[in-house]
Order: sequence, then C-alpha cells, then structure tokens
Amino acid sequence: MESSSVGNALYFGLLVLLLQLDPAISSDASERQTGEDCLVDKFTCNDTVCIPISWRCDGLVDCDDELDEASCYSDEPDSIVFVTDLDEGAIFMATTTNLTFTQLPLTGLQTPVAVDYDPVNGIVYWTDSYNRSISSAHIDGTNQKTVIDGLGTPDGMYFDVQTKTIYWTDALHNTIEAVNPNGTGRHNILSGLDKPRAIIIVSTNRMIYWTEWGDSPKIELCDLNGKNRQVLIDTGLGWPNGITYDRGGEFEMLSTLFHPMGPNLWLELV
Ligand SMILES: *[C@@H]1O[C@H](CO)[C@@H](O)[C@H](O)[C@H]1NC(C)=O
Ligand SMILES: *[C@@H]1O[C@H](CO)[C@@H](O)[C@H](O)[C@H]1NC(C)=O
Ligand SMILES: *[C@@H]1O[C@H](CO)[C@@H](O)[C@H](O)[C@H]1NC(C)=O
Ligand SMILES: *[C@@H]1O[C@H](CO)[C@@H](O)[C@H](O)[C@H]1NC(C)=O
Repeated sequence: MESSSVGNALYFGLLVLLLQLDPAISSDASERQTGEDCLVDKFTCNDTVCIPISWRCDGLVDCDDELDEASCYSDEPDSIVFVTDLDEGAIFMATTTNLTFTQLPLTGLQTPVAVDYDPVNGIVYWTDSYNRSISSAHIDGTNQKTVIDGLGTPDGMYFDVQTKTIYWTDALHNTIEAVNPNGTGRHNILSGLDKPRAIIIVSTNRMIYWTEWGDSPKIELCDLNGKNRQVLIDTGLGWPNGITYDRGGEFEMLSTLFHPMGPNLWLELV
C-alpha cells in the first residue's frame, strides 16, 4: 500500500453527500405512506403523507407542500460544506456557491477528524482523535460540549437524524459504537473489526455501511443492532476512507486511497 507523500500539506479526504435536486426523483413511492398518524420515526407532511425523518431538511423536496424543507436551520439556499483541518486543529465551513471557508469559533480542538451536522437543530458534531473524544456545538460556536471521551481512535462518525444518535468507528478498539447526543446510552454495535473508518446510515434501508482499511480492506453493512452483517465489496480496494450515499441515484459512492488520518469533508444540501 502506498503511503502519502504530501509532506505537511493537508491530507484531503473527501466525503461528499451527493443529492439531486429533482423532487420527482427524490420521492420514493415505497417510502411514502398516507395516514393521519405517522409513526414516531416519520415526518408528517402538511397533507398527512409520512416520510422518513431523515428526509427532513435534506435539501430535497419530498412533501408536496414542501413542509419537509421549511424551518430548517440555515437561511442559505445552497449547500453547506464542512472541512476538518488536522494541522490547524480547526473546522471550517462554507457554502457551495461561495467557497470562502470560515473557521467555526470552537476552542481546544487538537486533531478533529470526522464531522457531521444536525440540520434540524444547527448542531455540528466532530471527533478528535488526539483528544479521543466526540464533541458538539451549535454552528455559531455556542454551547460547545464534550459528548463522550476516553475513546480510542474515533476516525469516523455519523449523526443519524432519524434516531438522533451518534454512530462512530474506533480504529484502535476496532469497534462501531453509538451514543445519544447528551452522552448517555453508549452501546457497542460491532467488535473485532479491522481498522474501521468511514460510516454512514443509508436512509432508505436503514443499514449501517462502513469501510475498513486493515489487512483486507472492505466495505460492509449491517443493521442498526449490528445484526445481518454482510460484505459489500472486498476486492480492489486501497484505503477506503470515505463513503457516501447518493439518494437520488441510489448507489453508494466511495473514495479510496486517501490517507487514513486524513480529514473528512461533508456536504449537505439545505
Ligand atoms: C398547511 O395546511 C394548512 C391548512 O390546509 C394551511 O393553512 C397552511 O398554510 C399549510 N402550511 C404549509 C407550510 O403549507
Ligand atoms: C463569500 O463569503 C465571504 C465570507 O463569508 C464573504 O466575505 C464574501 O463577501 C462572500 N462573497 C460573495 C460573493 O458573496
Ligand atoms: C479533551 O478531553 C478531555 C477529557 O479527556 C475533556 O475534558 C476535554 O473537554 C476535551 N477537549 C475537547 C476540546 O473536546
Ligand atoms: C439524554 O438523551 C436521552 C435520549 O435522547 C434521553 O432519553 C435522556 O432523558 C437524556 N438524559 C439527560 C440527563 O438529559
């Protein structure tokens, strides 16, 4: 395996959530059900159609009345991009129409690696591999807190809007774990992995997908309880350190060959 030779330059790992803006594509009939009582994990459109909660504030119009994209945090009509910078110990954000990055006013960051965002509440979550912690703050920098500390190497993380749960990978302990945003309810999903890194939950099938960059690199999936584990890809991979899901096209995209300690970039259409 080739090691990165970019010296002190930023290691750039890109994890981009690709979404299409065509509402016709975004409305998956099988996910829409009509009823006055949407289940707790569903969002109720104004016309009483139920859609998955994770579709709220995702930049795609799913309700005919567009209620799923109303009152989202951010008045920006375009996408937000977050970048973690390991050298500077900083997290930057920009919009995709104006790629001028501004540093989030956070304190005490050492080696921020993974970043994710709760678009409903405007909360940013990040992991710090040096500090071995996961933290959160409002996007304006207020209310910064440590969610959980004493971890190993938390290089990948995903905030699940639907269950309001943080999932992360730990490449030292070789685990996938989960915790509530207030630090309670920590539980193990899977153990005995081989350097897990990137992690996402796909909204349509509610499965966890993650990458491993150890001796036999692969991309696997399992359900939210760690059951029904399956290998998706286990050949032809280098260092698969990023993964995302294209909801419009419904295929997984992955990036390989990035440095395992590289930062992630995360994009969401809001
Ligand atoms: C929802 O429906 C009600 C009544 O039909 C209407 O008054 C209201 O403006 C609608 N809200 C949106 C956001 O469409
Ligand atoms: C882009 O964003 C930067 C930082 O917020 C701002 O100073 C600049 O005016 C913006 N440029 C445009 C063209 O909006
Ligand atoms: C670093 O970890 C310590 C506990 O190990 C915690 O008190 C502190 O808040 C953390 N710093 C940041 C910036 O998360
Ligand atoms: C922490 O969050 C969980 C899940 O959201 C909630 O049930 C619990 O009451 C919260 N605990 C505290 C102390 O806020």
